[in-house]
Amino acid sequence: MLEDSQGGMTQDAKNIVWHQASVNRQDLSDKRGHRSVILWFTGLSGSGKSTLANAVNAALFERGVETYVLDGDNIRHGLCQDLGFSDADREENIRRIGEVAKLFLDAGIVVLTAFVSPFRVDRDKARALVDEGDFLEIHCSADLSTCEKRDTKGLYLKARKGEIPDFTGISSPYEEPDKPDLKVNTGSESIENCVKIVISKLISLKIISTNVR
Ligand code: ADX
Repeated sequence: MLEDSQGGMTQDAKNIVWHQASVNRQDLSDKRGHRSVILWFTGLSGSGKSTLANAVNAALFERGVETYVLDGDNIRHGLCQDLGFSDADREENIRRIGEVAKLFLDAGIVVLTAFVSPFRVDRDKARALVDEGDFLEIHCSADLSTCEKRDTKGLYLKARKGEIPDFTGISSPYEEPDKPDLKVNTGSESIENCVKIVISKLISLKIISTNVR
């Protein structure tokens, strides 16, 4: 794999030609009654990204919306099992997820991604893969102290003891979004409230309708 002048990956393979799909996003949207979009949840470990993404997923399922959740911990068991938590590996993790999310977008699906995605530049690259309006950055905002108190996976304790290197918030940075499309206070508000906020946003952007199937 080669790098371009901006340090991004370039294409290695030659003699490949893009094949146009016979069913496009508009056809899918007309048939299903909703648009597709990438809902990019970002935040510290333990901030509630996966919980919120899954709760929004359930609410969308109830409404008959086609969805899929891509979750950091799960994806690292397969597609990204070769990656660790160095800055470069996190960059590659997010690059792959950006590309996978784009495929789901093409498939007419509302794709919810729950990755720490700590670096602004990597999130911005994922956004830049798709058109304006196709990517909503949702900041799951929770103080480090709240996440550490929850410590649902016991990882903060290990990180404090020096047993996990490069742990986000402890020994590796988390860059908060400057202008997220949505900021939800997963540290202080109930998940139910956060779900309502996300669903209202999707309705106001006409990604989904108010009708529940
Ligand atoms: S990202 O930084 O590349 O976006 P990703 O979301 O895939 O991270 O994985 C984060 C999850 O891996 C955390 O929720 C946590 O359970 C686990 N994890 C293990 N080691 C680390 C680490 N060093 N930093 C952050 N999370 C880690």
